[in-house]
Formats: sequence, structure tokens, C-alpha cells
Amino acid sequence: MRALIIGCGNLLRGDDAAGPEVVRRLTARGLPDGVGCVDAATAGIDVALSMRSVPHVIVVDACRSGNTPGALMELSGAEVEQLPPPSGISVHALRWDHALAFARWRLADEYPAEVTVLLIEGERFEYGEPLSPAVEEGVERVCERILEDLFVVAAAATAHPTTTPLSEDGEAWPAPGWHAGPPVDAVPDAQPIPFMAGDAPGIIVRGKGGLRAFRSRCAHAGLSLDNASIDCGSNALVCRWHAYRFDADTGAGLTAPHRCLEGWPLRVVDGLIWVCPPVTEGSAEEADVSERPGPRA
Ligand code: FES
Repeated sequence: MRALIIGCGNLLRGDDAAGPEVVRRLTARGLPDGVGCVDAATAGIDVALSMRSVPHVIVVDACRSGNTPGALMELSGAEVEQLPPPSGISVHALRWDHALAFARWRLADEYPAEVTVLLIEGERFEYGEPLSPAVEEGVERVCERILEDLFVVAAAATAHPTTTPLSEDGEAWPAPGWHAGPPVDAVPDAQPIPFMAGDAPGIIVRGKGGLRAFRSRCAHAGLSLDNASIDCGSNALVCRWHAYRFDADTGAGLTAPHRCLEGWPLRVVDGLIWVCPPVTEGSAEEADVSERPGPRA
């Protein structure tokens, strides 16, 4: 398992059910391979053990911090590292900090490498109340955020770009699914070139290993990579929004190893760059590109 989503909270106490509700909705919608969901309200203390050696754990819970009802807060890195030792744990209403503190104590070296906590500000916590409208909206936004992040990472694991020399054998071109990008000479060393591959925004990058194509969507928060830069010394593509870094040859996450860019197959034909982005569900091209043939090297 490469990622696990845990919903904490008490199903019976109004907005405290936000975490389990996120788990219920994600399970109903379907998750990428290798991603699991656990409802801590029913798993109890066993939820800590379910985190054993999972690279990335996302914990969702409700909170009362005085913020606007439905507001989202994200904790990660040092904020989560500094949790106190476990005490006062209730197995009937396991809170996010209790679940993580117990897991850290119980799992030691097998504790997840990355933990993200998503908190939804609650409005009412009385027994028997349904979710408030503001938290309903917050739950939905958390689901979308998690799904977007996870599917970006899943796609990155499936496509790794390759550069193939021009075919000289007269094969019909362009093959189905391939889109023309910029000329090879238009791609400098230090600046990605944005372009559209049909409806999909992409960038072409010249890394130390040659030309590469990626979807123009940062694996951190899903924002455009159109104005990213390249740190030639470290061969890193640097997102301008929050400075997450990615290997310019492979798209591998350098800031957060599980957050990788979606790489697209790339070929050079007659001095022009061609790319073949993955077909999304419902695309008109879906029936034509199952084999995705390209020119032979
Ligand atoms: S969107 Fe945050 S670093 Fe790229």
C-alpha cells in the first residue's frame, strides 16, 4: 500500500463525523490502486497498526479552533512531528492526534514517512445531530483535494517519458494519440516550454538526460507548471508556487518523494517534438489509441 486515508471522529456527534464521512464518500467513489481507507471510528486503536510502513498517511478529522465552520486546515511536516506522547486515548472517538501519537509510539521505525492532517472546522457536536451545511461542504472539498492528489501520484507511476530518434522508415505519422509540441531548437536549458497537447496542458523540459514532457500540473497542489524554472546545477524543475522540486529527467519528487509529476511519452520527428498524454475517461480519442503506436527507432 502506498497511501492510506484515515477518518477520525465520532459518527454520532454532529460535525465530529466529518472524518468517517470523508472515508465513506471516498470508498464509494473508488480510489487508485494501492490506496486504502480506514474509518477510525470503527477500527479503534487498530488504526495505528494499519499505518505500518505506509509511505503516506492522510488523516481527516473535525476540530474546534474558533475558525469559520467548514474551514480547512492542513498540518504536515514539523507540525505533526511535535505531537505529545499518547494519553487520555478513547477507542470510541479516536482523535487524529491520539491516533498518530499512538502509531508513532507503537510503530517506531515503521511509522509513515509522510503524514498529512486535514482538519475541518466543526460547528455543532451534539449527539444525534447531522453534519452542518458548512461541514458538508468542507467534507466535499476534502474529498476532491484527496482524490486529485492521489490520482496525480498514480498517473506519475504509469508513464515515464522516453526520447526516441527520428524514424526513417516512412511509417505514417502522426500516429493516433500523439500531439505536436514545439521544435526541438525552441527548448532552452533553463526554461520549460508550455504547450497544449489537445486539451491537456503540458510542458517540455530539457534536463541533463535530454528532452522530457510532463503534464503541466504540480504534484503538490495541482497548480500549473507553466512558469516553473529549472535549477540546472541540481537538474531540478522548481514549481513557482511553493518551490516544490522535481527531477527534471524523471519527474520524481525531490521535496516530497511520493509527489511525482505525470510524465508523458515523447518522440522527436523531423526536428519537432511529439507527445502522447494519457487518455482520460470519456475522451473521443480513447478508442483509437489503445496501442499508442509510434515510429520505430
Ligand atoms: S503547487 Fe505548490 S509547489 Fe507547486
